Amino acid sequence: MSEKIRVAGLGGSLAPVSTSLAALRIALEGAQEAGAETSLFDLKEMDLPMYIPRGGVIDATRSLVEAVYEAEAMLWSSPVYEGSFSGAFKNALDHIHEMGSYDPPMLRGKVVGHIATGSGTNAVQGIIAMEACARSLHAMSVPPFVVVPKTGQAFDEEGKAIDPDMDQQLRSLGRSVVEAVTRLRGQGS
Ligand SMILES: Cc1cc2nc3c(=O)[nH]c(=O)nc-3n(C[C@H](O)[C@H](O)[C@H](O)COP(=O)(O)O)c2cc1C
Repeated sequence: MSEKIRVAGLGGSLAPVSTSLAALRIALEGAQEAGAETSLFDLKEMDLPMYIPRGGVIDATRSLVEAVYEAEAMLWSSPVYEGSFSGAFKNALDHIHEMGSYDPPMLRGKVVGHIATGSGTNAVQGIIAMEACARSLHAMSVPPFVVVPKTGQAFDEEGKAIDPDMDQQLRSLGRSVVEAVTRLRGQGS
């Protein structure tokens, strides 16, 4: 039997209650339902210092970097701030840049699925910005993505999606990254 696909989830906000974190949890459940082993990196818990160029992998990022290196796929989830993803999320991606000396470097060969949450309709701009970052880190974005608009009404106090369709979209994104890795494995990549 082939090794389980590992999916690392990165995201959430620094807010006391985070809808982007709730969305990420559901998408990771979708990946688990598709047979993957998952890990979750909540930016609030990680409390990362600002990235210093050529600072190497620091203690605060070591478990993230190790999980990302072992993973074949990632799920990214950020709130949209001023028409892009959050600064905290970008800072985490900058830390991942320190994987440039790894073999393979950074996120080469890995698959990423994107989630952006926002109060308005321009949250899709967060997805566009995430896709550009994924490309810079040499990752491959799956075509589906999820935008969660009107986040104030999107999740209940337990973090469950109120709209069943949104729940399904998030789970389906989790399944999509697992399916993409399965196809890549089949091609010997
Ligand atoms: C500084 C700031 C800027 C924001 N800019 C946007 C924006 O450009 N578009 C949008 O749809 N929502 C915007 N929002 C709303 C957040 O994206 C929305 O509340 C999001 O769900 C918060 O995610 P969280 O619950 O994970 O903290 C902004 C919120 C903040 C605090």
